[in-house]
Amino acid sequence: MTTEVRAMGRRKITSQLRADLARVYLAAYGDPALPESHLDAENFAEATLRRHARRAGFKLVVSVTDGTVSGYAYGFTGRRGQFWSDWLAGTVPADIAETWVGDHFELVDMVVDPAFRGNGVAGLLHDELVSGLPQERALLATVPGAGAAPRLYEGRGWQVVAAEIDGSKALYGLDLRTI
Ligand SMILES: CC(C)(COP(=O)(O)OP(=O)(O)OC[C@H]1O[C@@H](n2cnc3c(N)ncnc32)[C@H](O)[C@@H]1OP(=O)(O)O)[C@@H](O)C(=O)NCCC(=O)NCCS
Repeated sequence: MTTEVRAMGRRKITSQLRADLARVYLAAYGDPALPESHLDAENFAEATLRRHARRAGFKLVVSVTDGTVSGYAYGFTGRRGQFWSDWLAGTVPADIAETWVGDHFELVDMVVDPAFRGNGVAGLLHDELVSGLPQERALLATVPGAGAAPRLYEGRGWQVVAAEIDGSKALYGLDLRTI
């Protein structure tokens, strides 16, 4: 299995790539038998991703394994005034908000098609995504514990900066100046 990871600027998101990302989203988060899962995947690729791609600092990385799009990860510069940054700033302790929230790289999602998991694809996506970022800090929310996502992030320098921000999720931070 050979995987290549490429960074794709906003203008490189073709309709074919959008369809490939929707397919990965559906395989990871949906049930192909349900029409609403197809709508969710289309909404991600046609609305959410388009909206996020217009934000400053947008970066998308895509993995291609043996010729098939196998995963993606993306984020943008998180700023006060945006929904998640403002919500976080009101949720975490003030000293953490002061240090971490605002002008950070917001890692929105990292997804690998279940058919390609367990082969290091997410590790490759992660390393390409954080490489050369201009921001000083990065943030993401995920469920801590023994699952693949916390294993991946904790093994690559991310630390829990606030536990239980959103039900079961923790806020993870990475100091980009040290990588
Ligand atoms: C999280 C996810 C992206 C991992 O993708 P992947 O390509 O299978 O991950 P990798 O093979 O690169 O493995 C990453 C790390 O997780 C570990 N891992 C992989 N599968 C695992 C599992 N089922 N349980 C526990 N750890 C696991 C690997 O050992 C590796 O750890 P290491 O870097 O210390 O060796 C994938 O499971 C996914 O798409 N999940 C759904 C979406 C999601 O939750 N995304 C994260 C939200 S921010």
